[in-house]
Amino acid sequence: MRILFVYESVHHGNTEKLVHAMSGVCGGAVLKARDFRQTYMDGFDCIGFGSGIYFGRFHKEVEAVVKALPAGEGKAVFLFSTSGRGLKGYNRKPAKTLLSRGYRFCGDFSCKGYDTYGLLKRIGGIAKGHPDENDMEKAREFILGLTRE
Ligand SMILES: Cc1cc2nc3c(=O)[nH]c(=O)nc-3n(C[C@H](O)[C@H](O)[C@H](O)COP(=O)(O)O)c2cc1C
Repeated sequence: MRILFVYESVHHGNTEKLVHAMSGVCGGAVLKARDFRQTYMDGFDCIGFGSGIYFGRFHKEVEAVVKALPAGEGKAVFLFSTSGRGLKGYNRKPAKTLLSRGYRFCGDFSCKGYDTYGLLKRIGGIAKGHPDENDMEKAREFILGLTRE
């Protein structure tokens, strides 16, 4: 299965760590959302959209890519995110968009990511050290699970 990872990771590179962990085990291609062109999709069986979470949302470049996608016609997609709180619920909105466009939603992954935004910096941040090796192992298992489907 040819996988393309489309992502943004602008705070501490937390989401990028996940991308490297996952692409490292499945051999996928990796692309920043800002460099994405719809024509690239043709060469891939499955596309993952990932982001850090900023004020409850995926990065605007990732949101813009997802919103502008052509009709999915059953093409496989998945989502992943890192956030200070590590909540899977942050994936819900883009998941809904993808489903409404006719994509086959194969699953999503989320974990904590070191967060020093705003006042959090004063207390040394939260989720320090994340994503850690345990998070990365879970991300690897997630993507390997998808490729075995
Ligand atoms: C401007 C800003 C807003 C953020 N908003 C949230 C948020 O709403 N919820 C949350 O759990 N974490 C939030 N965070 C923390 C990031 O989601 C977290 O650090 C994430 O791992 C960053 O990923 P990145 O290093 O790949 O950019 C925010 C961080 C920044 C810089």
